Amino acid sequence: MPNPIIEKISSALEISRQKLREAKTENDIEAVRVDLFGRKGLMPALSKEMSAVPSEEKREVGNALNNAKNEIQTLIDEAKAAISSVSSSASDEIDVTLPGRTWKLGKKHPVTMVIDDCVSIFRRMGFIVAEGPEIETVYHNFDALNTPPEHPSRDPQDTFYFPDGRLLRTQTSPVQIRVMESRKPPIRIVAPGRVYRRDTPDATHGMNFHQIEGLYVDRNVSLSDLKSILLAFAHEMLGPSVGVRLRPHFFPFTEPSVEYDFSCIMCGGKGCRVCKNSGWLEISGAGMVDPNVFKTVGLDPETWSGYAFGMGIERIAMIRYRINDIRLLFENDVRFLKQF
Ligand code: PHE
Repeated sequence: MPNPIIEKISSALEISRQKLREAKTENDIEAVRVDLFGRKGLMPALSKEMSAVPSEEKREVGNALNNAKNEIQTLIDEAKAAISSVSSSASDEIDVTLPGRTWKLGKKHPVTMVIDDCVSIFRRMGFIVAEGPEIETVYHNFDALNTPPEHPSRDPQDTFYFPDGRLLRTQTSPVQIRVMESRKPPIRIVAPGRVYRRDTPDATHGMNFHQIEGLYVDRNVSLSDLKSILLAFAHEMLGPSVGVRLRPHFFPFTEPSVEYDFSCIMCGGKGCRVCKNSGWLEISGAGMVDPNVFKTVGLDPETWSGYAFGMGIERIAMIRYRINDIRLLFENDVRFLKQF
């Protein structure tokens, strides 16, 4: 006749196995644990009864009790693990009714788009891209460009100087010098890039903005070549009905110098608010390379001739995309940039 405690143990084992097999929630498992191991549970009660077990049976009953505890603890752990793996796989399930995730693609800034378009237009006309540093020497930014020492553009009020005497270039024109120093004509380059001026930012001025410089050096280059290239550019960039006009101007490094305008694309030249009723939109400066500049870079002005032009990239972007404040192009407000 086995000890009655052993019978209690085996029937408790039987019932617990059954319950744990059927357990569906953590609570079901917890209930089994409390029944057996809780303060008023079966196991502590049976442990107490151990003292009444005759000593020759103690060993057998004790073993049975320990084995039962171990087995049930293992079953409880397994049941818990099974439930948590079911619930986590349920949360991984794909809810096909959820709206899809949209991937927000970045895109080019309007200034970059205009630069890219300018470059591709000029490349088709035989120009290649040249580059120069944004931190320039006074020599390249002013001296070699025939700019006299007293010229107002050199004033620290207008130009950012470094303590070592170098400066943030105020124009892309120093790239002309660097190219002519290092290459033999014929030369046909465009140089897009960032320039800096000590201006107070307003709707039409920024402290740094972008220009694209053009330089063509060859034999027998004329002002009409310059005008035709500007016209071809205007047609590609803004449409076939856009006209170009040159107005006399002065730049130290070109002679003669011009400012050039494109006819207003808003009103077709009739006059409107955008062109301030003039029918024309100012673009930038240009001219024939000054003989002094050729001499400085070691080219004979009797042999070589050339034209140079600059364009304000933001200016073109503002015309092309009808933007009325240049600051929008620097503030990087996504609501603005999204529209391009
Ligand atoms: N560098 C001049 C400016 O920034 C523009 C220019 C370029 C004029 C080339 C003549 C020739 O205003």
